[in-house]
Amino acid sequence: MENQKRLFKDEEILEWITILTEEDLKTVHKKSLVPFYDQVFVEGKGVYLKDHTGKEFLDCTSQAWTSNIGFANPDVAYGVSEQVKRLTHVRYGFPTIPRINFIHKLASLTPEGLTKIAVNAMGGGAAIEAALKLTMVNKPGAETFYSYTRGYHGSSLATMTLATRFAGVTRFRPWGFDRVSKIPFPYCYRCPVGQENEKSCKLECLEIAKHLIEYGSLDKVAGILMEPIQGPGGHIPTPKRYMEELRKWTEANEIFLIWDESQLFTRIGYWFSSEFYDGIKPDITCLTKSVGGGLPMGVTIAREDLSGFNSAEEHSTFGANPLMFASGLVFLNYIERANLLENTREQGAYITKKLNILQKESEYIGDIRCPGLMIGIELVLDRETKEPANALASDLIEIAKDEYGVIFGLSAPISSDSGSLYRNVVKIKPPLTITREDSDHIMDVFEKALEDAIDYL
Ligand SMILES: Cc1ncc(COP(=O)(O)O)c(C=O)c1O
Repeated sequence: MENQKRLFKDEEILEWITILTEEDLKTVHKKSLVPFYDQVFVEGKGVYLKDHTGKEFLDCTSQAWTSNIGFANPDVAYGVSEQVKRLTHVRYGFPTIPRINFIHKLASLTPEGLTKIAVNAMGGGAAIEAALKLTMVNKPGAETFYSYTRGYHGSSLATMTLATRFAGVTRFRPWGFDRVSKIPFPYCYRCPVGQENEKSCKLECLEIAKHLIEYGSLDKVAGILMEPIQGPGGHIPTPKRYMEELRKWTEANEIFLIWDESQLFTRIGYWFSSEFYDGIKPDITCLTKSVGGGLPMGVTIAREDLSGFNSAEEHSTFGANPLMFASGLVFLNYIERANLLENTREQGAYITKKLNILQKESEYIGDIRCPGLMIGIELVLDRETKEPANALASDLIEIAKDEYGVIFGLSAPISSDSGSLYRNVVKIKPPLTITREDSDHIMDVFEKALEDAIDYL
């Protein structure tokens, strides 16, 4: 084999990827089908990002909760650049060395018995659609799925149908609607059945869900899809008691339990949510975000006794991309070598402790939810009425970014028929590489930005 000749000088290629004119920035919006911000990030290092004006930000969103081992991680850079020199693309049916090694490595980390893996290069939505298809492969004739209020699973037509009513994105919902119904998420802070404390709770919301499923389905029920800890809907963990009962009931009724762990994988301080839920396991689980080490990847993992797909049922042009497997391999090994799960639990507990102290002084902090570095702070105008403090949350985020150089996340907008709009959960989800000093800095800025935002009320 002979090397192909280079056509361009290094400077020519570098110009395409590093030089930006104000004019190009201004006019590009007219040529894009999707909107984007005016801020252009040009470089990342560890937990920091730099924009085109040279301003640096500590990013507590890890850019869609994805860059868990830091931006432009140097080991990922090495692995991907070595692979890119060797081979950048093969067709889906072909294994490559990184693909084989990635599957073995990931299977060595999964909860026992969940070892059958399919990988795509599109992300979470595609991984979830694969999970739905796999359920139908293994449960012929059952095509009805249930998903949860406040859930989010992607922006494909099927996953939008599975999601809750996010403000502004409901116009495609009728697609496949006859196949999907919703059940209430166990959102304890705003309990769907009005319970006020854990002691008196008899898991009534689960009883309602069971009732709806038993009596409300047109045909055999295939599966229930859930985020064990909801992300976009407001960082809401399913209580362990609920998860235990749900798993028992789905098993007894041969209904597949499908988890969407897109955001949770490693971020909650464990590889898989199963560890957080004391060994409870789903039949199928889905990953994306961090798992590709910053490159696009979605993963569907199923029980080892389930039948897999035939070659026509689950494939895509870029699904065997060797670069994402090289990057994903570095990611999994980096988390281990740098002890990042432990660091995630430690820093998460430290930040949460500081938030709990702050909550004693601030009437605007309604609820603090974790685990690990999946931290959500629900802001309210009044702790009694729990009226969502939407403007306070968005002001806090703007001030923290513009005045103090820290980017926090904001929950997705959820609207109800009665006109309430919920967009009041501030998120702290930095790369898992943060240090104690970073955590202190994040909390200093959170406190200052909250005080400043309160002044605007
Ligand atoms: C919980 C959850 N599920 C699924 C998805 C969809 O992933 P993707 O955008 O890669 O399709 C997301 C993305 O934000 C998510 O947060």
